Amino acid sequence: MGNSPTTTVDFDTIAKRYDLINAVISLGFVKLWHRRFIKLIKSNIDLTAVYGVLDVACGTGVSTKYLARLLSTASSKSVRIRAFDISKLMVEKAKKKNLQNIDNVKVQFSIQDASLIACKDSSQDLICISFGLRNLLDPARSLGEFYRVLKNGKYLAILEFSQPYKIVQPFTRLYIKHIMWRLACLFGGKHSDYVYLANSVDKWYGFRELEYMGNLVGFKTVSTKRFFLGQLAVHIFKKEITTNYAKPLKSIDSL
Ligand SMILES: C[S@@+](CC[C@H](N)C(=O)[O-])C[C@H]1O[C@@H](n2cnc3c(N)ncnc32)[C@H](O)[C@@H]1O
Repeated sequence: MGNSPTTTVDFDTIAKRYDLINAVISLGFVKLWHRRFIKLIKSNIDLTAVYGVLDVACGTGVSTKYLARLLSTASSKSVRIRAFDISKLMVEKAKKKNLQNIDNVKVQFSIQDASLIACKDSSQDLICISFGLRNLLDPARSLGEFYRVLKNGKYLAILEFSQPYKIVQPFTRLYIKHIMWRLACLFGGKHSDYVYLANSVDKWYGFRELEYMGNLVGFKTVSTKRFFLGQLAVHIFKKEITTNYAKPLKSIDSL
């Protein structure tokens, strides 16, 4: 157990130049992707009833910043965002963004593992994870954790890479497999880290598979939107426990 890895790649080494390299390898689009995510959260979720929020795998706090701004405009109630990440250096960088208090929104950063979240069962109103699920050692287990800590009737929002439309696949694969990591290395990224990340994008699930995974855990689909030629997808899920169990075909007595 002592030597078992806790992350798929060493995000502590990535942390130093994360924001810069992300802007470069996304060709400047990363801001638009976050804004699209926020727009879809806003249009699918009643944010006036959101008080406890998790930003899982928050990295350097870029996703947290967008979320805090959204919640400060969408709700007048006091909201608490707990943003956490497993990488100490990512969290240190996030803390430097000074997001602790934005109007009615309080932000707390911590170091935590998404496979064992330090929150009570059914305690949160909204969980967001952007570009994080793909990087977890065991995404299915973390989806189960998200289900456990969400209140019934509340939401999980995921922004992640997906599989692009067939017609553009040769071009996106060329970029991801051969150009993206080279660009990252030009700006100081470590070769093995960015080759790993490029492969993780290439091999990640399509939107239907991720939706199926969420449904298997027990989530109901609220909305699944692909964008950027299908290369990205936003999934909004809802935890909905119903007590309307289907009736057995035969009564047990008649068996
Ligand atoms: C690509 S970054 C995304 C950061 C941020 N959400 C964003 O949109 O910029 C992925 C993050 O997942 C974090 N991570 C990986 N495994 C984790 C785990 N088990 N628990 C929490 N965070 C984890 C990494 O440390 C890294 O900061």
